[in-house]
Amino acid sequence: MAATNSRSGWIFALLLGSCTTATPPPDATPTMTRAELVDPARCQACHPDQFHDWSASMHAYATDDPVFRAMCERGQRETGGKLGTFCLKCHAPQAVADGLLVDAATDIDKLPQAYRGVTCFFCHSVDAIADTHNNGLHQATDLVLRGPLADPMATTAHASAYSDLLDRDQLPSSTLCGSCHDVVTPLGAQLERGFQEWHGSVFNQSPGGNTCGQCHMPQRPQLSAVAAVAGAPLRRVHSHLTPAIDTALDNPANKALQVQAVQDELDKSLQSAVCVQKLGAGARLSVILDNVAAGHGFPSGSALDRRVWLEIVARKAGQIVYQSGTVADNAVVDTGADPDLWLLRDCVYDANGAPVHMFWQVASAVGNALPVQLTFNPGDPRFYQSHIRAEFPSNGTQLSVMPDEVAVRVRLQPIGREVLDDLVLSGDLTPTLRDAMPTWQVGATLTWTPATATHTFTQDGLAMSCRTDTNLNPQADSVPAVRMPGCKPK
Ligand code: HEC
Ligand code: HEC
Ligand code: HEC
Ligand code: HEC
Ligand code: HEC
Repeated sequence: MAATNSRSGWIFALLLGSCTTATPPPDATPTMTRAELVDPARCQACHPDQFHDWSASMHAYATDDPVFRAMCERGQRETGGKLGTFCLKCHAPQAVADGLLVDAATDIDKLPQAYRGVTCFFCHSVDAIADTHNNGLHQATDLVLRGPLADPMATTAHASAYSDLLDRDQLPSSTLCGSCHDVVTPLGAQLERGFQEWHGSVFNQSPGGNTCGQCHMPQRPQLSAVAAVAGAPLRRVHSHLTPAIDTALDNPANKALQVQAVQDELDKSLQSAVCVQKLGAGARLSVILDNVAAGHGFPSGSALDRRVWLEIVARKAGQIVYQSGTVADNAVVDTGADPDLWLLRDCVYDANGAPVHMFWQVASAVGNALPVQLTFNPGDPRFYQSHIRAEFPSNGTQLSVMPDEVAVRVRLQPIGREVLDDLVLSGDLTPTLRDAMPTWQVGATLTWTPATATHTFTQDGLAMSCRTDTNLNPQADSVPAVRMPGCKPK
């Protein structure tokens, strides 16, 4: 079977597993044992670039992540151990696969370093996708390392083989990432939907789309060896850092490496526009946000923990005449005191419809993330469904004066402070870690003044003046934002 990139080929690959063209070269009998192959440290000498990036990634940190540990321990306690290896199946997959986590609560501390995190061997030995969520990845037992190279150089270290599941230029590779990046909770709620969102998006096509790896594992511009051995051919090294939102809270060295990479990712994610509509002596404000770069919603994944919100401050002659979303870095964003707050998040509920914070309690979820692009064709009405517009004030009233400056910025807390407080209160999280959690600004601050407006036009007979620093067209159709103040019981 050839590499599959058509839609039908994709489904075929999903059901039947993927194709591998094994190439155990006759002159190079692999010598690494299974115990050696599962240990990322054993890859470092020959694959220093991949090892360097991976070591600083959230994949390497997935088992040790103190927030993960805190939630996991509390989950075991509160479910009387029923959670079992549910969390660890994705956060320590090789350890679960090798049966090292029989008692998830206690065995995790004893876990050898080789088994911590989403490891090299775990990804590179996958040969089939049995399920699209909750880590339905199937590992081969032949000790052949699968990868993107159709013509791997022979090595005495390990056997190599090509697989379209590990070739970021092939759509099936998204199903490998996706199987862990789609979580269905024990109570049946579809909580993290990154893969599902990507699957229904314009990015799920080839050519013309993007796989997870094409966005999250960028290749080096220059050619270099992917194995530090004599005679290795020159190829493209792909980054294994996969930065997005989370950082290594209690590992300052890795956190420092991640911070710039996360900021770069965030800064390309959104386009925005701010508009001021003159109404008599007063005004109404509106802001449009468009998720242009994420191949899924924004936020996505752990949207129940993410807090993404808009800060808007309007001034006249230097005096603040209106504001919403002005929140101190370390404060709870949604206190219920700001009726106009535009907060993007998931509200999650238990089986009785009561709002909850913790994963394992979740029976249903409602979210208002910025949606993913469904088409690249501006002639298609769906093109503008990713333009989300929020009005300020939100209740149809207006500002009594016309401002002469309106500044907006998008901010992000990876995990809401109320969720962290909840973990501190239950004794599962050290308070210093709550304060180690960064607060991000997503992109630059956008400031409208009459002089810096980029678009002035008449809408419904009223004068509208907007500023954007991007290609976003403030006159085009847009979809009204859904506000979710608090998470009201259902
Ligand atoms: C003694 C050196 C050596 C060690 C140790 C080593 N590799 Fe390799 N590996 C190679 C060479 C050589 C290649 C082929 C490079 C090429 O063709 O450009 C390779 C290729 C690969 C490929 C690509 C396979 C393909 O067909 O796409 C993967 C994946 C890989 N190695 C993973 C690992 C992992 C994981 C470890 C640690 C368990 C590891 N390697 C340890 C030398 C090594
Ligand atoms: C989350 C899954 C995942 C983990 C964990 C992972 N890799 Fe990879 N790796 C990939 C994917 C996907 C590619 C293919 C990139 C492409 O299409 O070229 C890749 C590519 C490679 C290659 C081919 C050269 C390159 O840079 O593209 C090597 C060698 C490799 N990985 C080694 C490693 C080693 C060593 C580790 C651990 C230190 C590791 N990988 C951890 C998914 C993973
Ligand atoms: C075995 C399950 C598994 C597989 C396979 C997997 N991931 Fe992950 N990934 C995780 C876990 C678990 C985390 C979160 C670790 C943490 O924050 O504690 C994560 C984190 C990430 C993050 C960082 C998220 C953030 O908010 O900072 C990115 C980006 C990512 N993965 C991309 C990928 C890509 C791309 C692939 C496929 C090449 C992939 N993952 C394959 C389990 C997996
Ligand atoms: C078109 C490029 C693109 C594609 C395709 C893409 N992503 Fe992303 N992803 C982004 C951007 C941009 C962000 C937001 C920037 C950031 O989080 O720093 C992001 C964020 C994320 C996050 C963090 C989200 C959150 O809010 O917690 C995860 C996890 C992730 N991506 C995984 C994936 C997986 C898995 C796939 C494939 C199913 C995928 N991505 C496909 C560009 C992409
Ligand atoms: C199906 C695989 C999977 C399962 C099961 C899973 N996780 Fe995760 N987890 C992930 C992935 C993937 C990410 C990264 C998502 C993102 O960045 O958006 C993640 C991120 C996290 C994070 C860091 C980001 C955040 O704020 O949420 C924590 C903490 C976490 N998981 C805790 C848990 C706990 C506790 C459980 C069990 C109740 C669990 N996870 C079960 C895959 C999984």
